[in-house]
Amino acid sequence: MTHTITVIPGDGIGQEVIPAAVEVLHALDLPLRFQQAEAGFGTFERVGTALPPETLACCAESDAILFGATSSPMTKVAGYHSPVLALRRHFDLFANLRPAREGAIDLLVVRENTEGLYSGRERVTDGGTTAIAERVITAGASERIVRAACEQARQRRGKLALVHKANVLKETCGLFRQVGLAVIGEYPDLEVEELLVDTAALKLAQDPGRFDVIVTTNLFGDILSDLAAGLTGGLGMAPSANIGAGHPALFEPVHGSAPDIAGQGVADPRAAILSAALLLDFLGCSAEAERVRQATYATPHTGRTAATTRAIVQEVAP
Ligand code: IPM
Ligand code: MN
Repeated sequence: MTHTITVIPGDGIGQEVIPAAVEVLHALDLPLRFQQAEAGFGTFERVGTALPPETLACCAESDAILFGATSSPMTKVAGYHSPVLALRRHFDLFANLRPAREGAIDLLVVRENTEGLYSGRERVTDGGTTAIAERVITAGASERIVRAACEQARQRRGKLALVHKANVLKETCGLFRQVGLAVIGEYPDLEVEELLVDTAALKLAQDPGRFDVIVTTNLFGDILSDLAAGLTGGLGMAPSANIGAGHPALFEPVHGSAPDIAGQGVADPRAAILSAALLLDFLGCSAEAERVRQATYATPHTGRTAATTRAIVQEVAP
């Protein structure tokens, strides 16, 4: 069966690392069909929307999306919305899986992807002197993310850390914790610990090898996954999968569009290539996924995107 993949390079180095990942996928000789689509700040400047309806339509009819990175402005730009946040929400891609591996470290951050402080409920009052963000936590979203994490832990080393800040955020983290513990109760085979997010950051920095699966809410997961990446070769080696109940799922490197090095041909393509390996896992091509992973972890970045990609392609080609 042919799988359709929508390829969205986006802005900056997304334009360099995503074609590299596609090159690696091509080399595997699998029945994959690629369709190109556009999104990002460049698209917004050209056509007035960061995520054109044609792109959304392409994604909707595909099995998987390979997404690069987009440049999001720090301040509000009328009409601009982050396309990756929109795609996660549109396709209800609730589980963001972010593996980090190096040496004795082999962990997976499972980040809730649809709510929390990313709910988009922010407002300014008091004549511009007070800004308020609403943090939405639901029992439903907490249930499914903790369940996804338990299932991941079962396939790995059977260890799970439930990370929250329920001592302060008694209602929101309190609900996440309560629902999480109930789900975990259905998995008596797992070794579970509960950590406050600040302690989790400390322990991650001190002894990352102790972690297997970490499950947490949206913003905490965003931050802890960057920390985990920093401990395992940096953002150049950090892939992610955004998965929902069905198709499509979205795969993207954790790094951003890196405008400072864009266009020079020096970007490290390995995070994008490792994201393509997660995409292969999702499509059921686990042998090929493992081949890509082995080649990628064994290949140092040469400093040139094309040369690193070529080295990996040579390793994986049948
Ligand atoms: C990530 C990124 C995104 C996020 C940004 C670009 C909206 O930092 O995928 O981690 O915060 O989720
Ligand atoms: Mn991030």
